[in-house]
Amino acid sequence: MTAKSWIEACAAEEIDVEDVIRFDFEDRTFAIYRTEDNMYYATDGFCTHERVHLATGLVMGNIIECPKHNGRFNIPTGAAKRRPACEALQTYPVKVEEGKVFIQIEEGSQT
Ligand code: FES
Repeated sequence: MTAKSWIEACAAEEIDVEDVIRFDFEDRTFAIYRTEDNMYYATDGFCTHERVHLATGLVMGNIIECPKHNGRFNIPTGAAKRRPACEALQTYPVKVEEGKVFIQIEEGSQT
């Protein structure tokens, strides 16, 4: 059985508008986004095509473009939007409290 926990990832101001950062927690890696409308989102940190960190990719509106083959994903839903990426990214709930970004993950599960 797994329990869901809110994990503090970073300060809200650490992420520029329309940007993404990498967040590692235990043996997992995540990508935390701040979109142009000042919303925060979180997905798995690796592209589903190959094991490449999305945090070095490009945020354009609600899209993250993978730096390796330019596959694209919808940030809020994780849906694959351009080949060669065809498998959706897992997304995670995010909240911002007192200037800090938290993501909700299931502890004990693997990415
Ligand atoms: S590794 Fe991301 S599109 Fe290929």
